Amino acid sequence: MDSLFGKSYFSVSFDLVLIDKNLPYDLYINSSSHVHRDKFVRIFPMNGRLNRQDLEEFRQKYHQLYILESQRDFYLRSLVECEGVSDKDKVEVIKDSAIVYLNKVFTPDKEFTTEVLGEAISGCRDSVESMIDMLEDYSIQDVKKLIGSLSFHDFYTYDHSINVSMYCISILKAFKPKSKREELIMAGLGGLLHDLGKIKIPTHIINNPGSLSEEEFAEIKKHPDYGLGLLNENHVDTPGVDFEIIRRIIHEHHENYNGTGYPQKMNGKDIHLYARICAIADFFDAITTKRSYHEVLSVEEALKVMARASGRKIDPEIFDVFVKSIKKIDLKEKSTQMLADDFDPCQPHNVLPFQPIERERKAVNTEKDNNFGKVSGGDDLFGKKKKKAS
Ligand SMILES: [Fe+2]
Ligand SMILES: [Fe+2]
Repeated sequence: MDSLFGKSYFSVSFDLVLIDKNLPYDLYINSSSHVHRDKFVRIFPMNGRLNRQDLEEFRQKYHQLYILESQRDFYLRSLVECEGVSDKDKVEVIKDSAIVYLNKVFTPDKEFTTEVLGEAISGCRDSVESMIDMLEDYSIQDVKKLIGSLSFHDFYTYDHSINVSMYCISILKAFKPKSKREELIMAGLGGLLHDLGKIKIPTHIINNPGSLSEEEFAEIKKHPDYGLGLLNENHVDTPGVDFEIIRRIIHEHHENYNGTGYPQKMNGKDIHLYARICAIADFFDAITTKRSYHEVLSVEEALKVMARASGRKIDPEIFDVFVKSIKKIDLKEKSTQMLADDFDPCQPHNVLPFQPIERERKAVNTEKDNNFGKVSGGDDLFGKKKKKAS
């Protein structure tokens, strides 16, 4: 990882340093008194055993501890073993790390290269591995609560991608309880990278929670193709990453179960299982996670709204498992609100673009090319026709 970050270091909390076990990383301090001239000195070696008293001495003596960026994955993996620290605090650290890597891709500080992409994906994989360890005993409902407690970033795509990743892991575990670790990693990594193609779209468009113009909306709809193109153009080869699966999640997460999605209008089980899982994770996160933008739905109302999209936008079989693993609710009592099949969960929304249920009945008898509801903003919520992106 040194080639991406140079020989750099990141700061760690005293509370999140592993004690009474072999330390899987070196500990450093910054001994320089000059602001712009860092001088990192190792104060404790990898594989040594640190006890509580040693740590307390460090706490008295030093302001801050650091770890080599190239050892970040060892640090992340050790978090699960740290005692006396809340899961929320540990997941905040994992989230911060995932943001560091996503940030390398979304705002490359040097020219965007295959190397930058490969190393960032490798870092994302490490973050996903740590999430899997942390979420081992978590139900989908627990993940929802955890996500609600985390701090959020100004850039919508980061929070959203991390949340989707956590949901993908827990949905796959619920749907296929015997999934192998590698399968969970691929589902989680696909969730983390599903909107990769958005790096080619201007930030003011992807961060816009208001109404989008027809052209902007058409541009956003290209992000699955852009994401696939990025992986195809850059022959990234990261150990432990099955790029064929990641490509498919990136390319197929906006396909709808009934064939009305994009970019290929695939349907049913032709859509990769992890992309179908990602679509449910995407939808649930968009309508239940509190943002500065819109009020969110309760879990019950969210499931009822999603039930209306079951078999249309999302896979009904996975959705059934999803509902059962969250809580027992009576989905026969239908929501009085629904979202259009082209609702885009990857975009922030000022107002969730609900449409009246009457629309749904008419939609059954209407030409396939008609679509209802504007993807973003509250201005054109009720059935204004718009162009389909190719
Ligand atoms: Fe997306
Ligand atoms: Fe998304």
